[in-house]
Amino acid sequence: MTTPLLWLNDVHVTHRARSGGLFSRDQVHALTGANLKIAPGETLGVVGESGCGKSTLAKTLLGVQRPTSGTVTFRGRDLWTMPPARRRTEIGTRTGMIFQDPSTALNRRLSIRQILRDPLDVHRRGTPAERDARVAELMELVGLPKALADGLPGQLSGGQRQRVAIARALALEPDLVVADEPTSALDVSVRAQILNLLLDLKERLGLALVFVSHDIQTVRRMSDRVLTMYLGRIVEEAPAAEILDRARHPYTRALFSATPGLLDPIDPIPLAGPVPSATRPPSGCPFRTRCWKADDVCAEAMPDVEPSGTGHLFRCHHPVNEGESTHELATQAAVQAATQAADTARTPAAATAAHPRERP
Ligand SMILES: Nc1ncnc2c1ncn2[C@@H]1O[C@H](COP(=O)(O)OP(=O)(O)O)[C@@H](O)[C@H]1O
Ligand code: SF4
Ligand SMILES: [Mg+2]
Repeated sequence: MTTPLLWLNDVHVTHRARSGGLFSRDQVHALTGANLKIAPGETLGVVGESGCGKSTLAKTLLGVQRPTSGTVTFRGRDLWTMPPARRRTEIGTRTGMIFQDPSTALNRRLSIRQILRDPLDVHRRGTPAERDARVAELMELVGLPKALADGLPGQLSGGQRQRVAIARALALEPDLVVADEPTSALDVSVRAQILNLLLDLKERLGLALVFVSHDIQTVRRMSDRVLTMYLGRIVEEAPAAEILDRARHPYTRALFSATPGLLDPIDPIPLAGPVPSATRPPSGCPFRTRCWKADDVCAEAMPDVEPSGTGHLFRCHHPVNEGESTHELATQAAVQAATQAADTARTPAAATAAHPRERP
């Protein structure tokens, strides 16, 4: 990789949970041991179930969330050792964020023109006339008619509001844009338009884009590289072309097996039980309570990062073999579930003690 634009080194983020006692609040492990490099101009997709830490990762990348430990290096400098004013300028001028819901992200009392001028005014970009010209240019860039400049966000459609949010994120010509579920609050009919706009802008402006979504097939199509997260951990990182049927982590394969591809029928790999609580992640591999391949080794230690070809990393003690089909994996998981159910029916206590899926 060329010199990374942004680099996370062993980043952990814990929050104080609402559960626990008054003096001993539980800790939520929102992000654990994240290592990641983002190259200039690349699109990185982030997938994983709700609550797995995608938004925490997004906010950490943008210097909005301070890590509990670890470092965030942006353009060669540690974000959290620089003076706060410098960090705000660095983040404010070099990065942009697009949120899920444009109706809450935009100030309802300001006109579209004022919303787009605001970052230019705050960071004193150009003369007043140049700022006006930039507002007009931004509106054209994202396909908003000039006539909307004096309108308020409430007078626009959801898709138009998201176009305003994208234009605002691009106002200062950032190097990196992070889009966190940018289409989930929009009507299905306008989602494709907004995604195409993001892709087009990224190509034209040479931006690095981090794209977070639970629509994993869209993430795959949009991205150069895809990260899979599970319970606060990055468990796999693979070129987008490999993620669908050459992913090595069982969870990545299960995640993609549950959504229809363009040509393939759905063949979901069954997983045991719910996602465990982020306040008490399981010992060893966090996925072992649901994984059909889990054994005692998985309960003992977190797997190290292993490579699987160029730009492909995963953390698993018993990875999926290259070339194994989703159907084969679904069959393995179904057989494992049936065996475990039979064991539990025979000797409930012994089965619970023996199987890493059931250990606390
Ligand atoms: N401010 C906070 N206080 C306490 N817990 C939080 C806070 N923000 C996020 N969490 C918890 O951290 C975990 C990761 O959350 P989040 O990053 O929002 O996940 P995602 O975006 O993948 O749904 C979840 O368990 C969530 O409940
Ligand atoms: S380490 Fe074990 S439990 Fe975790 S994903 Fe791999 S096989 Fe499954
Ligand atoms: Mg989120």
